[in-house]
Amino acid sequence: MSDVTVVGGGIVGLSVAWRLVQRGADVTVLDGGDDGAWHVAAGMLAPGGESEHEDPALIRLLERSAQLWPAYAKELGVDVGYDDAGTLSLAMTADDLAQRARVWKRQELALLRPSELRDLEPALSPRVRAGVFDPRETQVDPRKVVSALREKLGPRVVPKRVEALSDVDSATVVVAAGCGTAALTGLPIRPVKGQVLRLRGEPGLLRHVLNASVDGREVYIVPRADGEVVVGATQEERTDRLVTAGGVHELLRAALDLVPGLAELELTETTVGHRPGTPDNAPLLGRLDDRVVVAAGHFRNGVLLAPVTADIVAGLVLDGADDPMSADFSPRRF
Ligand code: GLY
Repeated sequence: MSDVTVVGGGIVGLSVAWRLVQRGADVTVLDGGDDGAWHVAAGMLAPGGESEHEDPALIRLLERSAQLWPAYAKELGVDVGYDDAGTLSLAMTADDLAQRARVWKRQELALLRPSELRDLEPALSPRVRAGVFDPRETQVDPRKVVSALREKLGPRVVPKRVEALSDVDSATVVVAAGCGTAALTGLPIRPVKGQVLRLRGEPGLLRHVLNASVDGREVYIVPRADGEVVVGATQEERTDRLVTAGGVHELLRAALDLVPGLAELELTETTVGHRPGTPDNAPLLGRLDDRVVVAAGHFRNGVLLAPVTADIVAGLVLDGADDPMSADFSPRRF
């Protein structure tokens, strides 16, 4: 019997397990075998860019985790695609600009003219009206992170689907099962469908992450050093796993309007994932009872929040320490 069993072998569960192991705990990860949201995720580390939420506690948590990422990526010891070229947030039309300008102002980012934007990213459409550069918004490849963590944890990761927490034989159980956390704990986590595309071409068409409003449609484009380009994502309150003609069309139309040169790339993958959303779309971090700790409900920010979640949960499990950063995210708040 391990000291701690982590239920869930996605980026959050594995990060928690790795931090616990580093601190000397005897840990088993039970991995149900489904690819979680991490498998679909583009890996944008965007503390300001994923929503217009203004909850200061959540912004603090997102920013803290973004600060942890460079060291966390190094600690994994292999290339996990951490790239700090930064993000261009873009508006295609006057209406798109009106919508984004409020957030840019709050973030105190300087507005760039179209010519300045194209100096940074020559493949952008000449129709792009305005944008800002945020050097703090970086990226990582979630698939590489998960395989690095699996490698580090080795046989501690056991393929096993957990149907009930009473079946788990450990003094402490950390539930990090994404959307599956709802069935295990009764907590209100809902699946929020996202369709994501992967393209591939010669590296170098784009340098920065692009996050844009294009004629009222939201799209992000994440170029990797090896020529992969991730285009995402729909956001649908649906549980199905269908890649739809409408979803693909919506994403490609926005992406190609923004960067016409993407039309030449090969479309290599269409995928669907489900983000674990909570009623306030903030994560559930903390004790549910004497035995069970929850690390779930990270919604659009699971990759970004993995390192801070690992530190908070390790502190809670091993030191009994309630990190003040997590005070607002108790799973008992609902
Ligand atoms: N973090 C990107 C997404 O949820 O689509």
